Amino acid sequence: VHPDPTIGMGVGHRRGDEFQAAIDAHPVCACVVTPSFQNPLGSRMPDPAARKRPVTMLGPRGIPIIEDDTFAELPFDGARPRSLRVWDDWDQVLRCGSFGKTLAPGYRIGWIVPGPRHFDAVRQCRLATTIAASMPPQLALARYLASGGYDRHLRRLRTTLRDNVARLAAEVAARFPEGTRISRPAGGFVLWVELPDELDALELFDGARRMGISVCPGPVFSASGGYRNCIRLSAGHLWSEETEQAVQTLAELLRAQRSGRQDLRE
Ligand SMILES: Cc1ncc(COP(=O)(O)O)c(C=O)c1O
Repeated sequence: VHPDPTIGMGVGHRRGDEFQAAIDAHPVCACVVTPSFQNPLGSRMPDPAARKRPVTMLGPRGIPIIEDDTFAELPFDGARPRSLRVWDDWDQVLRCGSFGKTLAPGYRIGWIVPGPRHFDAVRQCRLATTIAASMPPQLALARYLASGGYDRHLRRLRTTLRDNVARLAAEVAARFPEGTRISRPAGGFVLWVELPDELDALELFDGARRMGISVCPGPVFSASGGYRNCIRLSAGHLWSEETEQAVQTLAELLRAQRSGRQDLRE
C-alpha cells in the first residue's frame, strides 16, 4: 500500500481505497503499520478518523495489526499521538515501542503490548528466539522511568529534534537543485527528500559515502527498486558546522551528477 507522505494510509488518501483493495485481494495474515511519524516519510495518520479505520477494517476480520509506535514519543508539538489500541474492540492490535530512537539504540530494549488475545503467542515467540532481554539494563531503565528523568529528557529532545529537522530542511531547500521536494514531518527526526526525476539516489549514496556522509537511498524502502530519485536524511545528530558542510557537499554531488547527465545528452 502506497502511503501518503503526510497522512500515511489515512482517510482522505489521494490514492483512494488502496488499503481496502489490498485486504480484499490477498489473504492477509497481519498488517504492520506505523501511524506516528513513519520512517522514512514522517507521516502521521490523523486522529481519530484515520487511526480508527485500519482497526475497524481489520479487527472484525480477525487480522492482527502490529503497530510500530517507535517514533510516537517524538511529536514536535502537543501530546503524543494515541495508540491504535484506543479503538481496538477486537484485541487485535499489538503495540510495539523502543528506547532506540529516544535514548540510544545500543540498549536493544523495547516493549510490546499485545493484549490478552495474543499475549501467550508473543511470549512463546520471545522465548523461542532470544529467551529474554538482558536484565540489568532493563532494571536501570525502569529506575530511570520511575524517577521522571525520561519525561524530562523527552521534553528537551523533542525541541532539539524539531529545531534540527527545521534547520536541515531549510539547508536542503536552499542548496539542493531546483525541483527538490522535502517532507514536513510533525515529529521524529527523518526527512524524505524527493530529487528531480533524472537524479539517482544510489549514485549519490556512493559519492557521499566516499566523503564520509551517510544518506539512505530511496530503493532501500522499496521491494521493487523504486524511489530511485529519493533519499532519507537524518536530523538525529547534534547540529554542527560539519552537518552544514555535509549538506553543501551533497548539493555539489547532485549538481555534478546533473551536469554529467546534461553532458551525456548533448
Ligand atoms: C519505525 C521503526 N521501528 C523500529 C525500528 C527498530 O528500532 P530498534 O533499534 O529499537 O530495534 C526502527 C529503526 O530504525 C524504525 O525506524
